[in-house]
Amino acid sequence: EQCRKSFPEGFLWGGATAANQVEGAWDADGKGPSLADAMVAGTHQLPRRITLEIDESRNYYPSHSGTDFYHHYKEDIALFAEMGFKVYRMSINWPRIFPKGTETEPNEAGLQFYDKVFAELKKYGIEPLVTLYHNEMPLNMVTAMGGWVDRRSIDCYLRFAEVLFRRYKDVVKYWIPFNEINDLTTAVGNWNHGGILNHGTEDFSHQVDDPDKRYAALHNQFVASAKAVLLGRQINPEFRFGTMICHITVYPLTCRPEDVLLTQQEDQLRNCMSGDVQCKGVYPYYAKRYFERNHIHFDVEPGDEELLRRGTVDFYSFSYYMTNCVTAQKDAAQVSGNIMGGAKNPYLKATEWNWQIDPVGLRYTLNHVYDRYGLPIMITENGMGARDTLQDGRVHDDYRIQYLREHIEQMRLAIDDGVELIGYTPWSAMDLVSVSTGEVEKRYGFIYVDKDNAGSGTLERIRKDSFYWYKNVIATNGSEL
Ligand code: BG6
Repeated sequence: EQCRKSFPEGFLWGGATAANQVEGAWDADGKGPSLADAMVAGTHQLPRRITLEIDESRNYYPSHSGTDFYHHYKEDIALFAEMGFKVYRMSINWPRIFPKGTETEPNEAGLQFYDKVFAELKKYGIEPLVTLYHNEMPLNMVTAMGGWVDRRSIDCYLRFAEVLFRRYKDVVKYWIPFNEINDLTTAVGNWNHGGILNHGTEDFSHQVDDPDKRYAALHNQFVASAKAVLLGRQINPEFRFGTMICHITVYPLTCRPEDVLLTQQEDQLRNCMSGDVQCKGVYPYYAKRYFERNHIHFDVEPGDEELLRRGTVDFYSFSYYMTNCVTAQKDAAQVSGNIMGGAKNPYLKATEWNWQIDPVGLRYTLNHVYDRYGLPIMITENGMGARDTLQDGRVHDDYRIQYLREHIEQMRLAIDDGVELIGYTPWSAMDLVSVSTGEVEKRYGFIYVDKDNAGSGTLERIRKDSFYWYKNVIATNGSEL
């Protein structure tokens, strides 16, 4: 296709990570444990376990050491700068700042770490894009309060947000209140996103689900997000806030009307509802009917609706890894996914972790969400988890280059369609711990970190072939792929 338009001047090229997946140093300088720190390593076949009592003598918890960004941030940010990053998406580890989550005064040593990270980014002219909540609820809030189900979590979160907004008011412009806020529309979101551990649940992949609690937690997050947006704007009217949706685009497996209808319902509930609340400021009509039909009850306090209406976001962002099919057929072949799997699409290939690869679906998705909200868009995660091999000090990850190249090409076409896409932070800037499996060897980064699933390795940083390739993509503003 002949493109007339391409990546605009000032397009925000970069990369993304999350604190609990890269930092390590889980108990350094006064940091308390987060819920991510209570997750034992697993594999694609072996589900991760959650242990409320952290016992390092019996279990290996990969977030405790991550890929040690905490002690390597200077080297890592220098490498991001070498690639030419304009933006770095990162999260702030909540219990580094409030170790239990309930304190009134922040932990100064924790803040000083982020002072240093931001200073380093500034040195290279890299814009930070900060996620306030990326699975890092203080573990104490889970055990003492039951996580996000408890309304007091909103106040704790706002204290955390306020400290950051005030301290970094001239340093950070772009904020994401919640990573993948729609993860709470599936049972997988209970633990990571909601801090909810229902009785008897230990296995991350098969969590006991209580939809009343799950949607109460989601509602509390919507309110917390709206309040954070309103507070942030008072502190600095220049702040820009974004929703962040785990967008698992769905197609009907067949053109049977039943499949098409089911696909629409899945799309509304999983992909659209949370974005609708955060971008339009109201629960959509179909959400209300869904709650009624499924007898889901949660408290909405007086004033909440008004808050949601006023605290809407400025931009739309989403993660995009795959698309799945939906069908009423019971026996269709299945594929995996991060928050939900689906029926296998016969036209797509999948990764080793059975996540389907669909670059064209990204253009479709960009048009879909731009049409729905009309807001500027950032793709805040996109990438391929793969097993890389280190050969004579090099990693030849041509499969990752191909994955990214094909997705960026579709972004260019979407821009040509007229979509206002302003940034791209692929997952991930560097190797890190996978959420679903706890493996480091499900690698996503441009930078290889010498560490294995059991935690051994020198932690040496090695530029992959994709590092050099992406550097040229950025240098040519996406014209050389
Ligand atoms: C997204 C999360 O859902 O998927 C990331 O926001 C995560 O934190 C990414 O790492 C990839 O998933 P996984 O399970 O391979 O780490």
